[in-house]
Amino acid sequence: MAAPRGEFSSRFGFLMAASGSAVGLGNIWGFPTNAASNGGAAFLFTYLILAFALAYPALMAELIIGRYARANAVTALKTISVGEKTRLAAVTVGFVGIITVSFILSFYAIVSGWMIAFFFDPVARLLGMEGLATWLTTDAAVRNSLFVVVFMVLTVFIISAGVKDGIEKWASRLMPSLIIILLLLIVYVLTLPGALDGLRAYLIPDFSRVADPALLVSAMGQAFFSLSLGVGTMLVYGSYISKRENLPTIGSLVALLDVGIAVLAGMLILPAMYVALNNGVQIYDEAGGLIAGPGLIVSVLPALFETMGSIGVLVAFAFFALMTIASLTSSISMLEVPVAYGVEHHGIDRPKAAIVIGAVITVISLIIVFNFDPLFDLVVTYTTEVSQPLLGFAFCIFVAWIWRRNDILEEIKQGDPDVESGLFWKIWPFYVKYICPVAILVVYFQ
Ligand code: TRP
Repeated sequence: MAAPRGEFSSRFGFLMAASGSAVGLGNIWGFPTNAASNGGAAFLFTYLILAFALAYPALMAELIIGRYARANAVTALKTISVGEKTRLAAVTVGFVGIITVSFILSFYAIVSGWMIAFFFDPVARLLGMEGLATWLTTDAAVRNSLFVVVFMVLTVFIISAGVKDGIEKWASRLMPSLIIILLLLIVYVLTLPGALDGLRAYLIPDFSRVADPALLVSAMGQAFFSLSLGVGTMLVYGSYISKRENLPTIGSLVALLDVGIAVLAGMLILPAMYVALNNGVQIYDEAGGLIAGPGLIVSVLPALFETMGSIGVLVAFAFFALMTIASLTSSISMLEVPVAYGVEHHGIDRPKAAIVIGAVITVISLIIVFNFDPLFDLVVTYTTEVSQPLLGFAFCIFVAWIWRRNDILEEIKQGDPDVESGLFWKIWPFYVKYICPVAILVVYFQ
């Protein structure tokens, strides 16, 4: 029944794929604005601690289960279960994960579609097609549907090609480009008047905020979303890692890349906002806070690029290329979760599974596009604030309370023979057993 499984061909390939999944709109858009509205560097500091103390152990849990079972999320959770009841729970958690990630993709595709539309805007303007440029940047259901479809076609195209020739190949091209574009943009924006005020707003900590529960909740939510946790994404990617790899090391590299790029993105977005302020663009909302929602990306920054004259066209082009790349390397990791299940469990061939599942998710996206007001926020809230933390909690329980500790150790030992005497094995099992589940629940009930 099962087709031969794919595997990442190198450590670099896995790192690009997994950091590509992790680095997305959450890092470039969510993190900087969250930081700006929650005490600047105080948020950064809290985020760093939570990312390494809570999100990294949860990431490791997924990678280890995945590589041990070498299977999709449902089968993998079933493999580590003992007894009828836990097997039933495993199937439930696996399925809820698949459904959750599909809904996450359905709203992610809408926002990513905006990024593609804005990416084509400078091209249209360069070609003198002002009418098209206006259409591209005006929020309308027709434009949104068209670009949802474009984005989903790209996602399906990459996933159809498989792990090595699709995910790994494209992530290895796109992620280095993303880092280069990001660095160039930072260097350029920092030379503009007003940029240093933004850097100050970002980096000067307001420590009175560190103990604020709202800050903790948003930092934790941000960390879980950013590392793509709880829904089986990292589990599936983990299932394609070679047994020779040292899991604790590559897991920490993924976390470092994710956090590093989020921190870097802050050095672009906040200075850019203050340059915009300097150029007369409105950057505060009515309540006096920094504009953080969709308004930031689709109105504040485009307005800034507009004030920059002809170089603004180039900057806009680079910026939306960056956003599109970040979205695409994340969306493929989302689609891979249901596709891996369809391929392995139902024996459907990969291209067909990718097309059919991609089409279903596109239809859901379109339903949201045409009923944006009631549905968009609802889907975002249910998936990322309700389902994702609960699933994250369930993953920790599976690893720490249900799976045999010895199997875990044996699995990690395959690529890391000395793990037993290292720091990881002294701390991690305790963490996933007690600290992670309790912390997730505490934050959840906030
Ligand atoms: N981590 C990505 C971001 O920061 C989004 C993402 C990819 C994701 N896969 C996921 C979020 C799975 C939740 C679950 O934008």
